[in-house]
Amino acid sequence: MNKKIIIANWKMNPRNLEEAKRIFNEIKKTANKMQKVDVIICPPFVFHLRVALGKDKGSPWIGAQDVFYENPRAGGSYTGEISADMLKNLRVKYVIIGHSERRYPLLGEGETNEIINKKIKTALSAGLKVVFCVGEKERDIEGRYLHFIREEIIAGLDGIQKKFLKNLIIAYEPIWAISANVGAKADNPESSFEISMYIRRALLSIAGEKIARSIPILYGGSISPKNAEDFLRDNIMQGLLVGRASLNSKSFNEILKIANQI
Ligand code: PGA
Repeated sequence: MNKKIIIANWKMNPRNLEEAKRIFNEIKKTANKMQKVDVIICPPFVFHLRVALGKDKGSPWIGAQDVFYENPRAGGSYTGEISADMLKNLRVKYVIIGHSERRYPLLGEGETNEIINKKIKTALSAGLKVVFCVGEKERDIEGRYLHFIREEIIAGLDGIQKKFLKNLIIAYEPIWAISANVGAKADNPESSFEISMYIRRALLSIAGEKIARSIPILYGGSISPKNAEDFLRDNIMQGLLVGRASLNSKSFNEILKIANQI
């Protein structure tokens, strides 16, 4: 049986280390009891070291929200960047790549498919597990959004050796459903399921049947304890990427318990 994958994306939160440790420890207590769930917490970089050192190996795993697209052996002159090796050194296991808040920042240029592709290659070859985010800005009735998602996948995985794809996880996050956006509400699970089938077909054309079937596809966007079960039951999605609700340990722990019971 494959475990459900539940990821906390803390984004640029919480405001200080004390709170980060408190939320982490409260989640850890519940996560340690979960047999059917892999729990991953992705704090801001500055909290990684302290959060990671305070824990034993095992779930909850630590994930990063980004990684630099090169991983030079000897380090390098890249002000402000963090390499895949540095993450590995801190026992970070996962990295989120291609999140819409990095593709489309409020100011300035965002990450292109080309940058995302380089990051995925670098992270996978360093042995990190990659949570690759894809999703449309809007859902037009003509169905162009499906083509858009397919393009993101094909471009993001271009030239990646098949042997690395066992460490790939796809997170389908329709941008309009992410709680930070005005008027956001979660997608309905049936349409997310259909899109996940479409994503799997795109993966099939890249990786062949066996690998494509083994890649978990998660849903993200306004997940809460109220709707988590709707996305997880009957293997509709293989896990969840949770933003806002992951900063409230009570809500996030409820989501974990729901996932563990399915
Ligand atoms: P949300 O964020 O759960 O707050 O909608 C999800 C995400 O952006 O990954």
